[in-house]
Amino acid sequence: MEQYAIKGGNPLVGEVEIGGAKNAALAILAAAIMTDDTVMIENVPDVRDTNVLLQAMESIGVIVNKIDRHTVKINASQIHDLVIEDDYIKKIRASYYLLGALLGKYNKAEVALPGGCNIGLRPIDQHIKGFRALGANVRIEHGLIITETEKLVGNHIYMDVVTVGATINVMMAAVMAEGRTIIENAAKEPHVVDLANFLNSMGANIKGAGTDVIRIKGVTKLHGTEYTIIPDQIEAGTFMFAAAVTKGDVTVKNVIPKHLESISAKLTEIGCEVEESDDAVRVVASKPLSHTHVKTLPYPGFPTDMQPQITVTLGLAAGTSIVTESIFENRFKYVDELTRMGANIKVEGNTAIIDGVEKYTGAGISAPDLRAGAALVIAALAAEGDTTIDEIHYIERGYEDFYLKLQALGAQIEVVNSERDLKKFKFKVVG
Ligand code: UD1
Repeated sequence: MEQYAIKGGNPLVGEVEIGGAKNAALAILAAAIMTDDTVMIENVPDVRDTNVLLQAMESIGVIVNKIDRHTVKINASQIHDLVIEDDYIKKIRASYYLLGALLGKYNKAEVALPGGCNIGLRPIDQHIKGFRALGANVRIEHGLIITETEKLVGNHIYMDVVTVGATINVMMAAVMAEGRTIIENAAKEPHVVDLANFLNSMGANIKGAGTDVIRIKGVTKLHGTEYTIIPDQIEAGTFMFAAAVTKGDVTVKNVIPKHLESISAKLTEIGCEVEESDDAVRVVASKPLSHTHVKTLPYPGFPTDMQPQITVTLGLAAGTSIVTESIFENRFKYVDELTRMGANIKVEGNTAIIDGVEKYTGAGISAPDLRAGAALVIAALAAEGDTTIDEIHYIERGYEDFYLKLQALGAQIEVVNSERDLKKFKFKVVG
């Protein structure tokens, strides 16, 4: 089984290039099937989640042509099936974006119901409520969500919670619905805006994305386009915290600094220097880190997908910090692993109370999910001694070339496959 072998202690120094946003890519790739023309999408991250979604699309007849590692041409004129099977949904929840895309284009879709996930309950009631408001019948049978209608008609929809997934799914379903749709209490995440811009470049008429009211005027048809996906805010943030935790000096390049404001603000608050330029952010951690309080919130608040990374960082900051998770109820599972590395963190409900320690020490640990896995890697980079991390396939779901990018910043990290590899790694990094 593949593992990361890490020897901690090196400050990360240098520049790292950030790839396209995974979560924007998942929405945009799904939406690309809404026209019969060819669509070209650039800056697609080469990660497991986007590749699995492309496979799911191919399974229903979409022609996917990879031009290079990050550019894909999609033609959906030959779709022969409107059913997305369980295998794909098991591998990635975002396959359910094909529900909104297929419903919007063909007035019918069947997608396996996403199962439980390891960061907490993830209901889909708001997706269903939105589709029904547009006139679709939605029923759940034999593990499938089946939705169909004669035609979709625009409506006024109020989301009961701020949800990225339902905002995206309903936006796709409404784009070719008859008349006007208004989505209130919509999610404002950068990837919601990116999807709206993409759909508009295909001829849709969507206004207000990025605010909490999205207005959509239905159009009869969408056409081909060429589009470049925005940079990944969470990948960038992960490297920014990696710089902080290892007392390094890292410039993350190819980012939109505005999308990183909540992250930059917290880093400044705990004692890092953050310098912004047009499309880069430099994080320098030359002083000891100090404690803070943070609560995860929908954008522009502090992202839940950065919660494990800030918790790992605050674990080494002087004083007591408090991290409150308000989006997903079960997102502190990695704390047990971090405790094995010497962290002093107590979790009570959705709050982590963190008493900063002097240092982490290397241990044999396991990645519980994507973001927590990345956070444990950065903990290991700061730790004294060797760490091995299992289940790294979670990390590969959302980070392209993660360990290679870290190596380029001076980290001692490798993928190992066997005891022998591990021994070789330890021999190499001794000293
Ligand atoms: C997306 C992101 C994920 C991120 C999350 C929050 C993708 C592929 N994934 O997930 O990385 O952590 O946003 O920023 O973009 N909810 C309901 N009913 C629903 C839908 C959601 O109650 O029908 C609740 C959820 O339980 C959660 C909250 O709304 O408490 C936010 O979830 P949502 O924004 O939908 O997350 P995802 O789209 O699944």
